[in-house]
Amino acid sequence: MKFSWHGHAVVQIQTHDKRIIIDPFIEGNKDCDLSVDEIKVDYILLTHAHNDHVGDTVQIAKNNDATVIAMVELADYLGSFDIKTHGMNIGGAYQFPFGKLKCTQAIHSSSYNDGEKNIPLGLANGFLLDDGFHTLYHAGDTALFSDMALLGPVDVAFLPIGDNFTMGIDDAIKASALIKPKLSIPIHYNTFPIITQDPNAFTSNVSNGRLPAIGEVIELKGEKI
Ligand code: NI
Ligand code: MN
Repeated sequence: MKFSWHGHAVVQIQTHDKRIIIDPFIEGNKDCDLSVDEIKVDYILLTHAHNDHVGDTVQIAKNNDATVIAMVELADYLGSFDIKTHGMNIGGAYQFPFGKLKCTQAIHSSSYNDGEKNIPLGLANGFLLDDGFHTLYHAGDTALFSDMALLGPVDVAFLPIGDNFTMGIDDAIKASALIKPKLSIPIHYNTFPIITQDPNAFTSNVSNGRLPAIGEVIELKGEKI
């Protein structure tokens, strides 16, 4: 499994010859190093419908004939744009060609602003991916919740630290202590002034913090990291 972080909640993953992007908010993401029309993916995973997560999903899906995996209400809505979708709901897992993907709880809201109105689209979620070798948890936007302790063995955890809309650093440190991942990576900060944070205050206070550069590819080799 290879993965990289591209600012905000944008994560790219490659495993089993499949290319995945999570929450492709590219246009308007000031830290992002990607350009929409150059992204090559097979699957797009969405944690919820907020515009800073759906981002450029429709364009990327059309460019690549990619499948969007999201909460059923959000998947149904995006299906109206004539793209391929796979709806899931919290607690459910499905075996995809890239691995087993579980839709996990997140404590957050989920609506899409289409420029005229806010459309409520089900619940927000996280994702737990097990490719048979490693497990990667993307928390999405969420508050701290104690059931994070039950996620199971996690190798890599992407945790929001921006505060105001999601966990802040203090709660994200508690989340990392509950999840006990081998790598804890902060996301969803500094994109907007209201979520300004020092990520080092997170990484230096968890036992396993990692602050990747934008676009840095991290490869997990073999059975264990
Ligand atoms: Ni959100
Ligand atoms: Mn967000």
